Amino acid sequence: MMLRSSPFLLIASLLAAIPANADGLYTKNSPVLQVNHKNYDQLIAHTNYTSIVEFYAPWCGHCQNLKPAYEKAAKNLDGLAKVAAVNCDDDDNKQLCGQMGIRGFPTLKIMTPSKKPGKPRMEDYQGARSAKAIVEAVVDRIPNHVKKVTDKDIEDWTSQDPEVPKVVLFTEKGTTSALIRALAIDFLGTVKFAQIRSKETGAVDRLGVTKFPSIVLIPGDNRDPILYDGELKKGPIIDFLSQVASPNPDPAPNASSNKSPKAARSSATVEDQDEPTGSPDPKVVPDDAKESKPAGVPSNAHPIPTLSTVEDLESACLTPKSKTCVLALHPELKEADSELPEPAKTAVASLSDIAHKHTVRKTKLFPFYSVPAINTGSKTLRDGLGLSQSQDSVEVIALNGRRGWWRRYDPSDSKEYGVAAVEAWIDAIRMGEGSREKLPEGVIVSQKEEAKEKQADHDEL
Ligand SMILES: *[C@@H]1O[C@H](CO)[C@@H](O)[C@H](O)[C@H]1NC(C)=O
Ligand SMILES: *[C@@H]1O[C@H](CO)[C@@H](O)[C@H](O)[C@H]1NC(C)=O
Repeated sequence: MMLRSSPFLLIASLLAAIPANADGLYTKNSPVLQVNHKNYDQLIAHTNYTSIVEFYAPWCGHCQNLKPAYEKAAKNLDGLAKVAAVNCDDDDNKQLCGQMGIRGFPTLKIMTPSKKPGKPRMEDYQGARSAKAIVEAVVDRIPNHVKKVTDKDIEDWTSQDPEVPKVVLFTEKGTTSALIRALAIDFLGTVKFAQIRSKETGAVDRLGVTKFPSIVLIPGDNRDPILYDGELKKGPIIDFLSQVASPNPDPAPNASSNKSPKAARSSATVEDQDEPTGSPDPKVVPDDAKESKPAGVPSNAHPIPTLSTVEDLESACLTPKSKTCVLALHPELKEADSELPEPAKTAVASLSDIAHKHTVRKTKLFPFYSVPAINTGSKTLRDGLGLSQSQDSVEVIALNGRRGWWRRYDPSDSKEYGVAAVEAWIDAIRMGEGSREKLPEGVIVSQKEEAKEKQADHDEL
């Protein structure tokens, strides 16, 4: 080695000798996913997504030069593929970097999922070190689980596995966009995806499609197709599809805690069917329809969970990653132990009944929570949303930290808080209908994942 001849290399090697856990190149807020020897397997080897992984050392000049482009690529690929980095200077990661055969920094590898779980196809990325070139190379390798169909074979395709929900993208294009490929990966194993061209007029007419691109959900079990009319962005489309299935969690939950959403869905029932027999919960009481009480009166027999502390509220619904949550913010009580006054009592009971109905039917629904006024987070949230004047009254709101929107249930619009009115409001949210307010700043507890909200904005179907 020529260490003595080069002061720069000497400095580099001294820095390299700084003990493990020396800070990596990417901060916590970076859009680049930081991977280490512990989570590599779960995050990279076992994902259904394509990943690009940078193996680097913080002191390396080329690595530092790459950082802005790499972070930009990560932003552009958000929701489409994983952009990750491993700090090979960290002693803990040395074995991983060795196994990967890393000889110089930075080394960029693209991992494409293969048929064998846990064994992605690996190739060195040799292209230009610009965001654009990296994005293109990765997008090219996003697996395509979207079937191309035509007027001739769309019927065949839809009639296979009639209980499995299906999505058809109607498009003028012959290619399959990164966004629809990413969506098919999110729902791999639970929802089937196809695309059909606008010139296939038979299907276009039959499914009532009038513009391109359009997405049609065929919920399965002979239910009528639903035309999606929201924004053509990943987040809202996922929210829309969540009425039939939830996206695969990535990373996959550990085996022990794995309550397979697939198992639940395979026995999903037609909307109007009665409670399935053999319910896993022996305590489940009969559906409203079977009880002799008047229809539309909520019973609160299965109360929704309560968020009693600020921490619970924040971690359940107020992080930048939080998905849709419905909250009943209780009014302040006159005496500490008194019962909830009306109309709060009815509001909470209606939500409980709606949630219970979905549990019984095994349809996916976002969570509902009760938030008592003694939870100081409740007041903070009311203040943040400008609901502070009404501290003495219940507020039912829906919000989504990840997407940055919220909605308030207006009882004057909808005849107070009866089950039917609240359910209509919930259904509109499920379908992505109605207006949403932008969440004011400060409501979400940490803005560190800000970049994620731009998810896939650039990508067109
Ligand atoms: C990968 O896809 C399979 C279906 O082929 C699914 O069961 C699994 O949950 C997915 N894994 C992740 C991590 O998304
Ligand atoms: C799953 O297992 C891994 C390794 O055994 C562990 O690091 C991780 O924390 C576990 N995750 C959960 C959600 O339990």
